[in-house]
Amino acid sequence: MKLLVILPVVCFLIVLNAAHVESKSRFMYQMLVFGDSYADTGNIPKSDLSQESRQWYSPYGRLRPSGRLSDGKVQSDFIAMLLGRSEGPPTYRLRSSHYVDMFGMNFAFSGSGVFEVPQKVPTLREQVDYVEILIKEGTIKDWRLKDTVALVAISGNDYVHIANMSSSNETIALVGNVTTEIAKEVKRLQDLGVPKILVNNLHPLGCTPRHSRPNNYARCDDRANMVASMHNKNLAEKLGSDHENVMLLDLNTAFSNLVQPSPDAAKNPSDYLAKAFTNKLRPSCESYDPKGYCGQEDENGHPQYSLSDLDDDPFGNFYWDDVHPTHTGWYFVMLQMQDYIKDFLDI
Ligand SMILES: *[C@@H]1O[C@H](CO)[C@@H](O)[C@H](O)[C@H]1NC(C)=O
Ligand SMILES: *[C@@H]1O[C@H](CO)[C@@H](O)[C@H](O)[C@H]1NC(C)=O
Ligand SMILES: *[C@@H]1O[C@H](CO)[C@@H](O)[C@H](O)[C@H]1NC(C)=O
Repeated sequence: MKLLVILPVVCFLIVLNAAHVESKSRFMYQMLVFGDSYADTGNIPKSDLSQESRQWYSPYGRLRPSGRLSDGKVQSDFIAMLLGRSEGPPTYRLRSSHYVDMFGMNFAFSGSGVFEVPQKVPTLREQVDYVEILIKEGTIKDWRLKDTVALVAISGNDYVHIANMSSSNETIALVGNVTTEIAKEVKRLQDLGVPKILVNNLHPLGCTPRHSRPNNYARCDDRANMVASMHNKNLAEKLGSDHENVMLLDLNTAFSNLVQPSPDAAKNPSDYLAKAFTNKLRPSCESYDPKGYCGQEDENGHPQYSLSDLDDDPFGNFYWDDVHPTHTGWYFVMLQMQDYIKDFLDI
């Protein structure tokens, strides 16, 4: 008698539990991507070869330049792959009016920052303005917005002049302004109804080849790394920890594990991250002129850069050019956070 009563209850619980374990399909998500070159998959139009359009020319993308500042894919593509796609969503540049692809849209522009930067490209705020219009005019429908993950990738363009700042007070004020603005735009995305938001913290700026070149790529620049740390502390405070729909992606730790591992890590034979790259700070593509750029050519079309052979050794270089990771570099960065991202997205 007792068993007859309990059995249906147990069955019900098993079914309930199975329903709970059953997670969301990763294919359900659409992506909205904001920020700069770490996430941009081709929003800057192709124009004559220059520093600003070099992503459309060899050796970017190796044999197939695609508007990405890498030899292959960039961060937004790797997140898209977690969602079962082969690359990030289509770019804002290629939109047609009143239409957004089922997989979302990429609003990130290489060279962008939260404030006006030398390169005149839409700031983070303007990028969020674009999506606000699409949501308010109903091009992005409520039912679709429900399954959205946004990426906010701000990677340091606001800090290009830190070396010239007269006082540390000025730097502190700038960090305060930049992080306040990022937090403000994240809040706007939440208010617009974006249910899941990934926010990059700042990678170790001082380790980028741009900053380590004066040290002959032997060590990172401490001052720039301090600015990144300050930024990250500020950003974490301003985003708060009580938002279950915002997740900070700790790029700083993920990059550091690869490019400036602690001495202990190097001694530990199981630490594959410390050993992943032969050249941790030297870029694969290096302009001859420190003020030049990867991809630069002289008037006769001769390359003004050296290029290591990544086909021969894909683990040769973490960095591709003076500020961007290689495809393999990004792979190892994202490998470190993919489980957190999957948990966060319940996939
Ligand atoms: C920063 O300083 C360097 C040398 O001190 C100078 O060449 C450069 O023009 C300065 N940049 C800005 C934006 O002031
Ligand atoms: C920096 O800020 C501190 C405290 O706010 C102030 O006492 C100091 O004079 C400032 N220094 C400069 C160089 O502005
Ligand atoms: C920070 O923002 C304040 C207020 O908008 C502004 O007055 C100040 O110049 C900014 N400082 C820096 C270093 O950007």
